[in-house]
Amino acid sequence: MQDQIHRLPKVELHSHLEGTIRPALAKEIATRNNITLDPNLFQVNGSYAWSDFPSFLKAYDSVSSCLKSGKDYQDITYEYLKDCAKENVVYAETFISPDHAAECGISYDDMISGIASGIDDAERDFGIIGRIIVTCVRHLGPTQGLNVVHTMVDNPHPYVVGFGMGGDENAYTLEEFADVYKIAKKAGYKCTVHAGEICGPESVWDAIKYLPISRIGHGVNCIKDEKLMGELQQRNIHLEICPGSNLSLSIFPDWNSHPLPSIMRKSISISLNSDDPPFFNTTVGQEYHDSAKHFNLGIEDLKQISEMAMKASFIDSKIKSRLIDKIQKFQS
Ligand code: ADE
Ligand code: ZN
Repeated sequence: MQDQIHRLPKVELHSHLEGTIRPALAKEIATRNNITLDPNLFQVNGSYAWSDFPSFLKAYDSVSSCLKSGKDYQDITYEYLKDCAKENVVYAETFISPDHAAECGISYDDMISGIASGIDDAERDFGIIGRIIVTCVRHLGPTQGLNVVHTMVDNPHPYVVGFGMGGDENAYTLEEFADVYKIAKKAGYKCTVHAGEICGPESVWDAIKYLPISRIGHGVNCIKDEKLMGELQQRNIHLEICPGSNLSLSIFPDWNSHPLPSIMRKSISISLNSDDPPFFNTTVGQEYHDSAKHFNLGIEDLKQISEMAMKASFIDSKIKSRLIDKIQKFQS
């Protein structure tokens, strides 16, 4: 089974590029940029130090501060996609945050062209296909969200396939971001939003009521509302589920209490994702292995998950069909 899971062509739809930077790489990039990272960012064993959701978001911001150029973005993209390709991930969509780049003095164009070069290099070297979802940061508010979406729409790039939002779910309301998302949707971008991770089912209701989304980041707290689960299934709203992240952030106390099996039984489309791999000591491949073990999933279940993920991806239909075909042809 281990080998079958390893060989299965897998798909990642939910990772934050700045959150994929391994501690050693963050230190290396910081050193070459003459930046001193806060020593409190690291535990004695070298991994990132944080204790709860707010301190995780702070640590994430600290790690991002090592970046200073498009080349840094190129390197972190390449390293992330290389790690994915080693686990037979054939397609990865990653969230990127122009607000974090701006904070580091990096322009939108430099950030995007750096990431695009990393994507090209990784496809050439490993065959993996990468694409970009531009995100705004919820706790920076809707006015800043408007800046981000306008920048994205005014500077189109073929690898930018979608728009989303991360950050603190308790800040502002989703209704306040309706205009931001309207602009992305009108310009042809597919949309996703973090909801139902920290907050309850009402946040998922708000997402489907106010935003033109076809996917939700996490959404796992829909489990507390039968009617909502029916709605997600009916509307074919895909949930980007990140079990390892949920357990690390204590959204659920243990694997037994994680709702993924119940959500799957409701025929809601889902994927398995890493979110911020080194922060949560995971990878997308690890999520497949852990889910097989703890949720008692067989290789055909995992193949179905990979196929659901590819179908929910934001890439153009030609590449999507080719990769769906590749997953369907997988022989365990
Ligand atoms: N940014 C990075 N990871 C995140 C998460 N799990 N939730 C919200 N915002 C994030
Ligand atoms: Zn996330």
